[in-house]
Amino acid sequence: MTGQVVVVGSANVDLVVEVPRHPGGGETILGGDLRRNPGGKGANQAVAAARAGGAETTFAGALGTDESAELLLASLERAGVRTDLVSRVDAPTGTALITVSPDGENAIVVAPGANARLALTDAQLHRIAHADVVLAQLEIPLGVVRAAAAARRPGAVMALNAAPSRDLPADLWDVVDLLIVNEHEAADLARTGGSPEGLAGVLLDRVPAVVITLGAGGSLVAERDAEPVRIPGKRVAAVDTTGAGDTFCGVLAAALARGLALPEAARIAGVAGALAVTRPGAQDAVPTAAEVAEESAK
Ligand code: RIB
Ligand code: NA
Repeated sequence: MTGQVVVVGSANVDLVVEVPRHPGGGETILGGDLRRNPGGKGANQAVAAARAGGAETTFAGALGTDESAELLLASLERAGVRTDLVSRVDAPTGTALITVSPDGENAIVVAPGANARLALTDAQLHRIAHADVVLAQLEIPLGVVRAAAAARRPGAVMALNAAPSRDLPADLWDVVDLLIVNEHEAADLARTGGSPEGLAGVLLDRVPAVVITLGAGGSLVAERDAEPVRIPGKRVAAVDTTGAGDTFCGVLAAALARGLALPEAARIAGVAGALAVTRPGAQDAVPTAAEVAEESAK
């Protein structure tokens, strides 16, 4: 183990139904069988970081005391995530209602439950203080993201996957070392449209490094005082895009924690994200390091 990753974030049980198309307002449609999968952006990213290997990954999040919590703990542990600091709170474990259409696209509603009660303990803050990479998303209270950033040691990377899209207060921008967003989130945060390079240019005024994921188009890596780098994507047959972005973020964090430069980390993360798209589910779709290596060699 060469690096330490702490993922600060949400865990949800995903209630997933395949649908011929996503329903509109006021509409009822019939779908396939209900699946109950381990998900949540934070837990998905922790699973991805752990499966990537080369770094020790801790998940700092909150679960309820219900059966959903057990499903999530089992999935995290199966992947090799350290769960010793997971908080248990008096609220239902987070739940996501997900429909997946035949093209692999999803629509998601999250009931945050326990995630909204996350407040970092001293033990979690202590683990964060020893991390090389701290990775957070926006399905938890913003104050938690702020506290995590404040606890990191000098030289550690505070990475924020600004998903789901929401406004960031000025003081949060100031503590982010690496922003990871898709094109929509980039446009929301930049408050403008335009090319990924243009959006990255705007965002670099506020944070030192940005990765914009571009789906099948790969990603764009932009760092201050360097030319932006386009990382090509892999063409894959999409089955379920749920959690593909999370796979990208987790694998990227693990690669940075073991000392890779951002463009190389984004290349590996892109391969892992592409593989995740070809499989149903979120955590269940995260590839192993060996699978990523094999796909990279193709
Ligand atoms: O990013 C995918 C995740 O978003 C799902 O697993 C769901 O739980 C929501 O958090
Ligand atoms: Na998937």
